[in-house]
Amino acid sequence: MSSHTSDVLVVGGGIIGLVTAWRAAQRGFATAVVDPEPGGGAAQVAAGMLAAVTELHYGEQTLLGLNLESARRYPDFVAELTELTGHGLGYRRSGTLAVALDADDRAHMRELHALQRQSGLASEWLSGRECRRLEPMLAPGVRGGLRVDGDHQIDPRRLAAALVAACERAGVTFHRDWAERLTVSAGRAGGALTRAGTRLAAGQVVLAAGSLSGRLAGVPPEVLPPVRPVKGQVLRLTVPRRYAPFLTRTVRAVVRGSHVYLVPRENGELVVGATSEELGWDTTVTAGGVYELLRDAHELVPGITELPLTETRAGLRPASPDNAPLLGPTGLDGLLLATGHYRNGVLLTPVTGDVLAHALATGQLPDEARPFTPRRFHTAALSEQPA
Ligand code: GLY
Repeated sequence: MSSHTSDVLVVGGGIIGLVTAWRAAQRGFATAVVDPEPGGGAAQVAAGMLAAVTELHYGEQTLLGLNLESARRYPDFVAELTELTGHGLGYRRSGTLAVALDADDRAHMRELHALQRQSGLASEWLSGRECRRLEPMLAPGVRGGLRVDGDHQIDPRRLAAALVAACERAGVTFHRDWAERLTVSAGRAGGALTRAGTRLAAGQVVLAAGSLSGRLAGVPPEVLPPVRPVKGQVLRLTVPRRYAPFLTRTVRAVVRGSHVYLVPRENGELVVGATSEELGWDTTVTAGGVYELLRDAHELVPGITELPLTETRAGLRPASPDNAPLLGPTGLDGLLLATGHYRNGVLLTPVTGDVLAHALATGQLPDEARPFTPRRFHTAALSEQPA
């Protein structure tokens, strides 16, 4: 059996694992990532909305603070990554318009607007006519909406590719294999064993395997992260040059209780998402999922039926019981978590990298991340253990 040793081993090479590895390597840790396909995972499906304001839900004000902090870090993060790797990331600061299609929607959106304003967020109420003046392709039935210029977008596939390149430049070692089991000895996480039988020893292990994070063998049950997969089906269309600009900003709504959003990229791609389905590990693209997305998107922007449909895909969001991520040290020495980012993984990438690097270096969470300690889910189990 071969073996490798590092200071930090990151289990999972999606954007969260990669940013953690990159930042750890920048701090001087000898860092390794284990993943069969680094840069894969949910980022290959996600639309890439950086939507701290328009993804705000009642009861999630604590998460809002972290989302806003990460949004604040985005411009510098993109500049650093682009300069280092030469990769463009499709970062677009063109804003978001959340619209209402009927009177009930409009009433709900008015309440959301009040909550946004109470939370000190920049959001402007527009009439239906004002919405259509901004985005002429919107349906005549749009009854009003919220203009949020601070909610931006990035292309997650390009972000993932840039993070792989940044990790390579920083000297991160990639083990292209599945982590099969966490190794624990003398009450401390000590690395992982891969499917091919390689023993990866490490001083600290970060579990950043997205929706799979709750399934790694060898993790003691009392520290196993309570994450579950929530399926999202997403479509990609292309805006032919003769129709450009089709939309100038992200447009979103809640139609019949489901979120639908249209994210226009500079390169002509139009991403339409997303379903939200609790179906375990299923990633089938279904006729029903595609139908519902097209039906709802068509209600918002009827002209989409003219566009070529170029891709359909399904991914798994790593959801936690309170919809917020689990960041930092666990009750098992040497094991940290960076998972459970649910609907905000792309947005939370910059702050997650910084928080985990700080936690790896100091053993502590920085102030902005304290509410997201994994220990919030394990107090009962741990308090039952003998002191
Ligand atoms: N953040 C968008 C989604 O999860 O669908």
